[in-house]
Amino acid sequence: MDIQGLKKTLEEEFAKVNSSQELEALRIKYLGRKGVLAQYTAYIPTLQPSERAEFGKKVNEFKIFCCEILKEQVENKVSLEKSVVEQDLDPGLPSFTFEPGRLHPITQVIDEICSVFKRMGFWIVEGPEVETEYNNFTGLNISLDHPSRDAFDTFYLKSTRKLLLRSHTSPVQIRVMKEQKPPLAVIVPGRVYRPDAVDASHSFMFHQIEGFMVQEGVNFSQLKGVLEVFAKEVFGKEIKMRFRPHYFPFTEPSAEVDISCIICGGKSGDSEKKKCSVCHGKGWLEILGCGMIHPNVFKNVGYDSNKYSGFAFGMGVERIAMLKFGIDDIRLFFSNDLRFLRQF
Ligand code: PHE
Repeated sequence: MDIQGLKKTLEEEFAKVNSSQELEALRIKYLGRKGVLAQYTAYIPTLQPSERAEFGKKVNEFKIFCCEILKEQVENKVSLEKSVVEQDLDPGLPSFTFEPGRLHPITQVIDEICSVFKRMGFWIVEGPEVETEYNNFTGLNISLDHPSRDAFDTFYLKSTRKLLLRSHTSPVQIRVMKEQKPPLAVIVPGRVYRPDAVDASHSFMFHQIEGFMVQEGVNFSQLKGVLEVFAKEVFGKEIKMRFRPHYFPFTEPSAEVDISCIICGGKSGDSEKKKCSVCHGKGWLEILGCGMIHPNVFKNVGYDSNKYSGFAFGMGVERIAMLKFGIDDIRLFFSNDLRFLRQF
């Protein structure tokens, strides 16, 4: 039995140990029931009686060596693990918290408005933000000399004046009507773009929601009814509405719709001293444009305007959200400031 050789191998093997599992494997290898020591011990009775005492002494010496080195290694291991714990890991610290995400206030308002119209039977349709000049203007009866076609009011793509960033969601009327036959009741949320200088009430990109309905016999009172349901659901039952005559090339007759001021209830108009900061003492807030779809638009999509009639409306989502939440600067929606966004 080469006891020096055995001790050397044992030391080398223990020196390589990196984990408590490896340490346990070595313990089993040497001290286990079928381990190296057990095998030497079992060998003793097969020896000549004269050799047994000598051999037994060596086995015993190796056993003590094994136990000592194991004890030492276990202590090392524990102190190693302890130092890791002390330096890098404090199990007493609170764990990382992950704040659940939430929807942007604009998305929340879009979802709310769309769900009101969905309950009235409207489908939700989306269209592309890059549009043809035809869908954005010509198809909607917006004449070539209309000021909104001017490059200052529309983002045109490169030198072609054929493609642009849509300046309203109304081109989706053209897309849907070209594809589908009446009856139609459609609601269109989406982004629109206008080259406005950014300030508290303007942004080069904002959101609109378009709605339209086409069928035989659709009339202005149905438009009023649908919009009244919308305004009361979104702003509250006590809200009043008024329609003011207006002009849009794609609707005739056209109107702008106001709701009674949600802050002063329309009562601040009288006193010069205490003007309401939201309606500026007017008592009314403009929320959307609307009207009966112009016969030229029907002609452009191949509908018979003697048979069908329809209404359309369009609103700015940021404006609705600002009124609803009492926000006075449109830039807050787009500055990614969590202190603002966490409030919704
Ligand atoms: N497209 C119009 C705008 O952007 C809004 C509108 C839509 C008006 C539909 C009437 C009918 O101002």
